[in-house]
Amino acid sequence: MAVMRLDKILSDMGIASRSELRQIIKSGRVMVDGLAVTAPEKRIDSDSARIALDGRELKYRKFRYFMMDKPAGVLSATEDSKQETLLDLLPPELKRLGLFPVGRLDKDTSGLIILTNDGDFAHRVISPKSGIWKLYRARVDGQLDVGDVEAFENGLVLGDGTACLPAKLELLPGGDCLVRVTEGKYHQVKRMLASRGAPVLELRRLAVGGLELDENLGPGGFRELNEAELDRLFGQDALKI
Ligand code: URA
Repeated sequence: MAVMRLDKILSDMGIASRSELRQIIKSGRVMVDGLAVTAPEKRIDSDSARIALDGRELKYRKFRYFMMDKPAGVLSATEDSKQETLLDLLPPELKRLGLFPVGRLDKDTSGLIILTNDGDFAHRVISPKSGIWKLYRARVDGQLDVGDVEAFENGLVLGDGTACLPAKLELLPGGDCLVRVTEGKYHQVKRMLASRGAPVLELRRLAVGGLELDENLGPGGFRELNEAELDRLFGQDALKI
């Protein structure tokens, strides 16, 4: 049971700001279990109460999960005094949810990033122990061949002695390549490819486990993930490499 003020429950849902919500509730637009409630401070059990706004039932969810197509040039951070961050791309009602990026992409990397306020979930996705792969497409300056594919499979050792877990390199027609890794060391994919004489010119993340980037979002576009997508992320396909 989670008993909370009605205005706090609605604000946690990202409906509007606390002060806007106080007005909305006072004006009688919110019903709880079929009755209008006009007191913002009214304490409600968010687990069991049926809350409706303007006749539309709302579902209280403590944790929220979004995918975003991160544009190159934006920081994977929640705030920065000088540079634009992922959180700056969200509307005010979503900024209030306490979202943070699951892992980091370099400033010049684009593609799939998950935003959530669920710390345990983030840990499960990031931890190499969970074996969830991340898929990247890279444009490189150089020629890769089957020797490089084998070297990735055997686990690369980078110039500074860093040992990488086995990874998968797939060569695409036209010179691009796909890279699948289960860990997220600093500049990992760039350093792996550079160690094979193919520095990265452009990097884009296409998938995290079984969750693929929705290419319809466009740069900076985002949307909430549904349960099927979250299941897919941790599904069997996510564990294969
Ligand atoms: N590997 C990199 O080198 N950069 C990223 O942004 C992600 C993976």
